[in-house]
Amino acid sequence: MDLPATAIIAERLVKARPSQQTGGIKRHCRGKCGELCSPKGVVLSYARDNIAQRKELDKAMSTKPSKKNKSVGRRDFLKSAAVAGAGLIILPSGVLSGANAPSNKLNIAMIGTWGRGEAHFGALKSENVVALCDVNEDHLAFGAQHFPKAQKYVDWRKCLDQKGLDAVVCCTTDFTHAFVANWALNRGLHIYCEKPLANTVEEARVVRANYLKNKKKLATQVGTQRHEIENFNRVRELVQDGAIGELQAVFAWGDRKIPRPGYLPAQGEPPKTLHYDLWLGPVAADHPYNPGYFSGGPGANCLSWNMYWDFGSGQIGDMGSHTMDLAWNAIDAGLPTSAEGTGEKFNPDVTPVELTMKFEHPANDWRKAITVSWYQGGAMPNSPGGMIDLRRIGHGVMFKGSKGHLVADFDSRVLIPWGGGADMTYYKPRTKDKVIPAMGNFQQEWIKACKGNLKTSCDFDYSGKMIEQMLLGLVAYRVGEKIQYDGQAGKVTNNAKANDLLKREYRQGWTLNG
Ligand SMILES: NC(=O)c1ccc[n+]([C@@H]2O[C@H](COP(=O)([O-])OP(=O)(O)OC[C@H]3O[C@@H](n4cnc5c(N)ncnc54)[C@H](O)[C@@H]3O)[C@@H](O)[C@H]2O)c1
Repeated sequence: MDLPATAIIAERLVKARPSQQTGGIKRHCRGKCGELCSPKGVVLSYARDNIAQRKELDKAMSTKPSKKNKSVGRRDFLKSAAVAGAGLIILPSGVLSGANAPSNKLNIAMIGTWGRGEAHFGALKSENVVALCDVNEDHLAFGAQHFPKAQKYVDWRKCLDQKGLDAVVCCTTDFTHAFVANWALNRGLHIYCEKPLANTVEEARVVRANYLKNKKKLATQVGTQRHEIENFNRVRELVQDGAIGELQAVFAWGDRKIPRPGYLPAQGEPPKTLHYDLWLGPVAADHPYNPGYFSGGPGANCLSWNMYWDFGSGQIGDMGSHTMDLAWNAIDAGLPTSAEGTGEKFNPDVTPVELTMKFEHPANDWRKAITVSWYQGGAMPNSPGGMIDLRRIGHGVMFKGSKGHLVADFDSRVLIPWGGGADMTYYKPRTKDKVIPAMGNFQQEWIKACKGNLKTSCDFDYSGKMIEQMLLGLVAYRVGEKIQYDGQAGKVTNNAKANDLLKREYRQGWTLNG
């Protein structure tokens, strides 16, 4: 679609492309998403950029560091300990056995060794994967082909007791993420957890609080790996440098639709290699086995269970984690003060396909109060004056300012100054030296952080608040009215039923913060 040149600065023209259908699921990215598609032979410019960055990172993080590198590592550590300034030096758990250990490798437990887990094999090859855990013994064997020396487990609680661990990579079902994350943090282990970090508001809060207690010792990362795409930085710069004037409202949306009628009925027996009881884990209701929960291909099986309330949060935790991240990265938001949610009729088994949520966020030190909205499953924000058809962008964000709009998908952006007064004099583009540098490979950022600086882009504070907001919106949808939220206390102040829905009961023997 052509955009009027006088009114639009297209930094990289969004060529809206018809979605390619794959078994009812729309392909929505070109190789970066890791969600469904990784079309072979398609090389993107940002991917090429990242190869150079990756090479540099790999070089810097060589598993066989030169003496020089090692001494720099020690010096850096001593420097940061000195800056910490406390008489008592608390060693980051990765330091003794990580960057400064003779082997310079992390001892990692990988939980969930098939499907999304496979996307981490490459990054983890440079480390010591010493423990593997999967409730499906066939999947465990699959992981063991890649890491034959690792101890094998079917129960992650036992796996986390293995001696000598430094870090955990968790690629299990959504409803176990906060459990594994808390248990890992409580055992002094760094953790990379696949998105979404939590399945209830309470889970998000407990895991964030645990991280904040440990942030001087442990590195965390939530698996929103698109965050490494440099477009995220460019979008943040445009918003913060005033390209649309004063920020007023933010909209994010996703068009994936996975309708389900209800929990699946009992069908057959679980295969002998699947520990179904452990798969259900903390879920209080005794859902019978049905092969339909296990019918998706590797990396896409989450779509077989994530629409059901007990197992996931639908598109909120699925594409919502990625797409809201693109907005969240630009707005420096904390927790919202209110939430609203409207959509299709409530189904007690299944999360809504069509849903609109709206949150109020207070002002911060660089912007006034704003609203943040989420649309999914066919619900969409209004296109800005018909200048661009947002429905042609499967997963995107729009920032509305006093002087115009910024529309973006994961790797492109379009700026639309609005009206005669939008003369761009208010836009103060940063100088080259202030441009936000590329973060490099997302998984490597966490590995590097475990070995020293503990800094990651999507730690459990940043990502924890984001998913808390989204899950709060689902609560507002369930009670059908605008709820007021005290983010400090984690309480809904005007609706007792909503307060009850912030948390859930678990099966006996499963402790969220164990
Ligand atoms: N970051 C991304 O782009 C991306 C892409 C796909 C999936 N994901 C996320 O990764 C997670 C896994 O998705 P998937 O499609 O691979 O799901 P899946 O159902 O295939 O599960 C992955 C593996 O974990 C195992 N598993 C399940 N519960 C377990 C438990 N309690 N303990 C140990 N192992 C367990 C399964 O047997 C399987 O081998 C989901 O939370 C999903 O949201 C993220």
